Formats: sequence, C-alpha cells, structure tokens
Amino acid sequence: MTQWTIKRNPNPTPDAEREAIIEAPTFGTHFTDHMVTVVWEKDKGWHSATVEPYGPIMMDPSAAVLHYGQEIFEGIKAYRHQDGSIWTFRPEANAKRLQKSAHRMALPELPVEIFVESLHKLLEVDGAWVPQPVNEKTLYIRPFEIAAENFLGVRAAQRAEYRVIASPVGPYFTGGIKPVSIWIALDSARAGKHGTGEAKTGGNYAASLLAQGEGYEHGCSQVMFLDAETATYIEELGGMNLFFVYKDGHVATPSLDGTILRGITRDSVVTLLRDRGHRVEERKITLDEVREGINSGEITEVFACGTAAVITPVGQFKSREGNIGREDAEPGELTVSLRNELTGIQYGTVEDRHGWMHKLVD
Ligand code: PLP
Ligand code: COI
Repeated sequence: MTQWTIKRNPNPTPDAEREAIIEAPTFGTHFTDHMVTVVWEKDKGWHSATVEPYGPIMMDPSAAVLHYGQEIFEGIKAYRHQDGSIWTFRPEANAKRLQKSAHRMALPELPVEIFVESLHKLLEVDGAWVPQPVNEKTLYIRPFEIAAENFLGVRAAQRAEYRVIASPVGPYFTGGIKPVSIWIALDSARAGKHGTGEAKTGGNYAASLLAQGEGYEHGCSQVMFLDAETATYIEELGGMNLFFVYKDGHVATPSLDGTILRGITRDSVVTLLRDRGHRVEERKITLDEVREGINSGEITEVFACGTAAVITPVGQFKSREGNIGREDAEPGELTVSLRNELTGIQYGTVEDRHGWMHKLVD
C-alpha cells in the first residue's frame, strides 16, 4: 500500500457554486477542488503520493515535457448511482493502457494499484462533484503523466510526475443523441507504422488539430484518419473508435494494428455485441467499402465510441472529394440500444455481467 498524504483545500468551491456547475456542466471547463500528484525519480521509484488543492503546477521552463512532448494521459469517468454511491468503469484497463503508453513514450510505468488508488483518493475528497445520474452527466477524470526533469538533453527523463484532475461533464456532443458529421482527413495523417498511434500521448492529438479545424469549417465535429501509407484504410477519429453495422447484422471495426488507440469502450462494445449474438469482425476496412456500403444500403449504421463520447451515431462523412451518407440520418436502432445498455451498466441500472464496474465511494 502506498502512503498517501491528504492536504485538504482550505478554500473549496462554495456548495451553491459547485451545485450550479454540476447542474449544467460543459466538457473540461471546471475542475474539482483537489488533484493527485505522485512523483517518480529514477533512483527512488514512485513516491510522495499526495492529494492536494487543485491549482497551477510549478514547473521549470526547462522541464522536458515542454520541449520534447513526453506526455501521456487517460480518460475515465465516475458515475453516481441512484443510491448515491460512486463507481467507475474498468479502471484496471485504463491503468494498463497508461503503462503501455508509458512504455512507448519512455516514461516510467505507474503500478496499476497506484492508478486505482489515485481514483479512490481523489473521489473520497471530491465525491460531491459527481453529478446526479441524469442526462449523461458524469465526472470526467483525467490522469496524466509528464516528464518533469529540468534538462534539455534529448533522452528519457529521469523525473516524472503522475497527476489526476477531474471535471464534471455533460454529453461530449451537445444536442442529444443526434448523428454527427465527420470530416475525412485526406491531407494529414495521425499516426504511422511503428509510430505512437497506439499510445495515448498528447502529440497524437496535436497532430489531429489541423484537420479538425478544417472539419469544423465544414460543419463536422470530428475528423476521421486513414492509414498514413496508402490513405486507403479507415483508422479512427481524433478521439473515438469507429464501428460499421451491416444489413445482415454483422459488425466491423478497424483492427488494432498499432496505429490506433485500443479503446476500452471499443473493447466493451465488441463484447456486448458478441453477447447479443452479432458476428464482430476486427479487420482492415477501406474507405471505398464504406462509401459503397453506405450508398448501397449494405451498411445500415455507423457509430463512434469513446469514454468522452460514449456511443455516438455518425450521419455523414464529408471530404473535398464529396459526401457519404446523410446529415439528417436517424440514429440507428442498434446504436441506440447499445448506448442504452452501456450507459445502463455504467449508471447501475443494467446488470453488470462482466464485472466492469468498480466502486469508488459508498
Ligand atoms: N481513439 C482515440 C484517439 C481516443 O482519444 C479515444 C478516447 O480515449 C478513443 C479512441 C476511445 O478510447 P476509450 O474508449 O478507451 O475512451
Ligand atoms: C476520451 O474519450 O477520454 C478522450 O480522451 C478523447 C477526448 C478527449 C475526445
């Protein structure tokens, strides 16, 4: 067991103000009263696990993360159940993915138990920030790790910091469960073979922003990336994985070949689909197949999924080469029912057959 030091915020947000924030949260704009910090040093390992008041972090201008982008993060949510208890979803999976990202980015691997403990410790002091279970409101938790050695030499940092902050959120896409439009990035790639695509590292997101901006200009809320080598195969969105539902009931999603994120929602959706008897194919999917499939009616539903976005129907793909699908498409039946099942498990109203839920606070 790690020794934790708890430093309570002497000036927490007043109750009325916090209640107003969690009543109408917007993604990632307000943060709870505390944060977690755990330090790693090459000769000492992980130490100084602390819960402290949320606030700016002191950093030397020479800190490695500011220069060479040695940074990784996670996204996980806390859900309030009807009886007031607070739960999270598959935290060990996020902990293991953070370790894989750390390995790829030459950062130290945080032990799984410290990751899980850090969520407990933060929620024990900030539990009041988890909204009531209505309208998809949750507390979005952002664990991250940065290279915090003050040194400009290009090598793996010998000091790192793991931190956790949390923000009450509503739906990532505002406007209810209505299909979103996706911009196809034809001129920029997110990740290449043997690159960092599978790691959840800030640089992948920075690499997506140019195309994302182009997407916004065309009324799209997300960007879809194709394989960097041939621009033929569908990979994923800037912050979500993709699924395609076929007329005969089978479902396909791009295989995990090292360039896309191993989404925990993706993995859960594959399991839920197989539980229902759907054949799920994890394989290469070409943009041509999707264009033809949507045009011919062979593909009946497309949805995106991720922690922030849950399960979101996709209506249309747009690009300078033309559009696929319809902006005003109705959300698909399977998309909606999967979304209800997954959120039901997370909010404790649907049986958790796979033991995915983990209680944080009674
Ligand atoms: N793909 C990318 C690039 C992401 O950022 C995310 C979000 O975390 C996902 C997929 C979905 O992953 P998860 O379901 O684990 O949140
Ligand atoms: C998440 O879903 O947790 C993500 O990290 C992606 C997001 C910030 C769009």
